[in-house]
Amino acid sequence: MARVKNTKTDASAPEPAPAVVALDAIQRPAAEALYADELERLARDGGDAPRPQGWRLTPRSVLAFVLGDAEKGLAPKFVGRRAFLERCIVALATNRGLMLIGEPGTAKSYLSELLAAAVSGDSTLTIQGSAGTTEDNIKYSWNYALLLAEGPSAASLVPAPLHRGMTEGKVVRFEEITRCPLEIQDVLLSILSDRVMSIPELKGPERTLYARAGFNVIATANTRDRGINEMSAALKRRFNFETVHPIADLAEEMALVQRESDRMLRRADVPVSLRPEITELLVTTFHELRAGKTAEGNALEPLTTALSTAEAVSASIAAGIHAYYYGKGEVEPEHLVQHLVGSALKDTPDDLKKLRHYFNHVVKGRAGAAWKAYYESRSHLL
Ligand SMILES: Nc1ncnc2c1ncn2[C@@H]1O[C@H](COP(=O)(O)OP(=O)(O)O)[C@@H](O)[C@H]1O
Ligand SMILES: [Mg+2]
Repeated sequence: MARVKNTKTDASAPEPAPAVVALDAIQRPAAEALYADELERLARDGGDAPRPQGWRLTPRSVLAFVLGDAEKGLAPKFVGRRAFLERCIVALATNRGLMLIGEPGTAKSYLSELLAAAVSGDSTLTIQGSAGTTEDNIKYSWNYALLLAEGPSAASLVPAPLHRGMTEGKVVRFEEITRCPLEIQDVLLSILSDRVMSIPELKGPERTLYARAGFNVIATANTRDRGINEMSAALKRRFNFETVHPIADLAEEMALVQRESDRMLRRADVPVSLRPEITELLVTTFHELRAGKTAEGNALEPLTTALSTAEAVSASIAAGIHAYYYGKGEVEPEHLVQHLVGSALKDTPDDLKKLRHYFNHVVKGRAGAAWKAYYESRSHLL
């Protein structure tokens, strides 16, 4: 039951001050908070141009928001092909959900956040899939004090993201869906096909929740987890699948890593920016090891760790913080090498061996002072 504030009787009472936390004090604001200005402007500019029912923005504006557009003053965000993104956005306007699959660290979660923020103005209706995810986490649970006092009622029901998304007509994000037990994944079956949730504990019309226009689901799944294969065919049919690929172009990946690490270091009050030649070392290493091929076309043994762009960003942030607090405020190749291991390789001795091989055979032969210093720092790989 909606608890609507009675504004008539409250008119004389002063409004309580909203508990606003400054954006800077939040470790990671949601996309709709971070880009509130852009979203508001796009919604206004869209006027009443046609759009799928329940959407805040037109599909064209959603696209411009996600990719960014310098001319329209929209910050660059997700790096990817336009055609791929158009398909993702179209999927959200159909009667199927959108399933983003791919290697870890390819920005599946980030993309789903941006899409939810653009389409619904809210990216927080999120279910984190895990082995322990229950139906309560997805649909609804109960406020036990109220349940005991008055029995099951709309007031004692505590809505979970799916319930809220259906009620409010918003996009719900289901992260790492393949990590959930199959019977939990299958909760989505009837909801995605019939767009209704039944709530057998309630009486009368409240037993059936019909999804409002604008509701849909974006699920993400890592192809490295056990997973996609085990998902039921019935559930697969209710999603449009899109594969998110790592950034193919070295220059594009370099620009993204530079931009993201600059932004994060600024937020951390660390006045350090990686010099472009340092970013180049890092991103080239990731790019080549990921592809299993050097720029010159020589084969490399692929690593077990997914050397994703997300990991490259983490490594460069760690190197920046390291240089600021323990160095001279300039990131040197030595800082990079140190953080390659912790941020990227995690605990895989075999990969460390392959990385050493990369230094001894590829890095060693490269020209330029930065590559030389990079090679000289290889002792950190021991
Ligand atoms: N194509 C991309 N566009 C923008 N950012 C990317 C891209 N690929 C990787 N990233 C980086 O990775 C981070 C997001 O990773 P995340 O969404 O958690 O990946 P996933 O969910 O696929 O494991 C972003 O914040 C960004 O720094
Ligand atoms: Mg993710």
